[in-house]
Amino acid sequence: MTVREALAEAEQRLAAAGVETPRVDAEWLVAHLLGTTRSGLAGRLGDEVPAGAAGAGVSPLGAAGSAGSASGNALEPLLARREAREPLAYVLGEWGFRRLTLKTDARALVPRPETETLVERTLAVAEGIERPRILDVGVGSGAIALALKDERPDAQVTGIDVSADALALARENAERLGLEVELRQGDGAEAAAEGWDVVVANPPYVESLDDVQPELRWEPEIALAGSGEHERLARAAKASFVVLEVGDGQAQEVADLLERLGCAGVAITADLTGRDRVVEGRLP
Ligand SMILES: C[S@@+](CC[C@H](N)C(=O)[O-])C[C@H]1O[C@@H](n2cnc3c(N)ncnc32)[C@H](O)[C@@H]1O
Repeated sequence: MTVREALAEAEQRLAAAGVETPRVDAEWLVAHLLGTTRSGLAGRLGDEVPAGAAGAGVSPLGAAGSAGSASGNALEPLLARREAREPLAYVLGEWGFRRLTLKTDARALVPRPETETLVERTLAVAEGIERPRILDVGVGSGAIALALKDERPDAQVTGIDVSADALALARENAERLGLEVELRQGDGAEAAAEGWDVVVANPPYVESLDDVQPELRWEPEIALAGSGEHERLARAAKASFVVLEVGDGQAQEVADLLERLGCAGVAITADLTGRDRVVEGRLP
């Protein structure tokens, strides 16, 4: 089976499975398998898709399947996982965030592009502070904490999470990337009260998981479902600044809360899709 044929079959199967961007996902999977990028596929459309064991981290099916379909080649296990609506980042095992490539699996939330705006605002509020002490509450895969350390090497970054699984993944990412951050297990609000220059958090804020897209069901519930976490954190925090990611429609409520708590410079920033996503303020 050629790369061109594999792409066509994968696109068709992913579309039938209800995947929102079947062509893009098909390209990601095939590119991963061939150890290239999506744009690198253009020159390889006539190549044969490897049978079995080619491609990093792929479990081979062996060459027993029919030669004319994805079954029997190394694409099949990846495709089957994505067809089951497992997030693309888990299937690929890695995902880009800011300047980093992070290991991703079901132990922690997939780092989202909108969270890059949270990092940007955190870097902005910390700009005038020398060796800022920054706490990332709910560190998950390590995305925020590690991106901050990468882009502000003089910062002293601590990440905290209640989930031992998430922390294990964050540790693996820190080690792989050679970035020194402190990682600990515990409750974020308690840690926030210890005194920091900046407390940043992307807390669980999905109020109901009833009608969410199937991909979210693969992610840890503790990373997604939550209500009132912004308030708990903002009330507990002893810090110069708080920078919080919020869900759709929550920004004004969280901004009002920060105003009530006496914060100065309360501001809402939209993410790259134009949705209000980050609320920040300077605590009294
Ligand atoms: C939305 S995820 C964010 C993960 C990561 N920071 C990111 O942006 O990709 C929320 C994280 O908060 C953690 N968490 C939930 N409740 C917590 C608490 N009370 N204290 C600390 N962490 C908590 C979850 O385990 C999860 O890893």
